Amino acid sequence: MEKRVYYQEINITEELSARINELVSHYPADKKKSALIPVLHVVQDAHENWLSIPLMDKVAEILGITPIEVYEVVTFYTMFNQKPVGKYMFEFCRTSCCAILGGDDMMEYACQKLGVKEGETTPDGLFSVAGVECLGACGYGPMLQLGDFYHEKLTKEKIDALIEDCKQGKINLY
Ligand code: FES
Repeated sequence: MEKRVYYQEINITEELSARINELVSHYPADKKKSALIPVLHVVQDAHENWLSIPLMDKVAEILGITPIEVYEVVTFYTMFNQKPVGKYMFEFCRTSCCAILGGDDMMEYACQKLGVKEGETTPDGLFSVAGVECLGACGYGPMLQLGDFYHEKLTKEKIDALIEDCKQGKINLY
């Protein structure tokens, strides 16, 4: 299997640093680790939606914890990306309710349409497709998350329209 190393510029701006400090302030001074997940979210958002090992190490340094404590969390949750992803990341729920309602077929359709496999990004860096665990919208499956928004009761036609809207810059992610 090809193993690639991706470079990521680390940019902890004053604004990001202030946001991290604000998140950390919600917890007791000797329990900074408790802020790890919210801190990872804001750091990832500020770094094109992925976290390299040096960036995870930086988060560990900021929180005064060991790097392995950050790796454990990042590798467990699908919402954290360990390599560059597309601007538009289609995260298809692959858990039971959505699977019964055709979620796998919808993800396969999107993959075929975009010319990628699950976990891959289109060469232009615009789209990624990922399978994730239950997103809590089980009654509205099959569904996907794109940025902060859910797209539910998916059909091939809805996926076609979504891809087209992304290409035309009509989709807000946050
Ligand atoms: S099973 Fe898909 S959102 Fe819960």
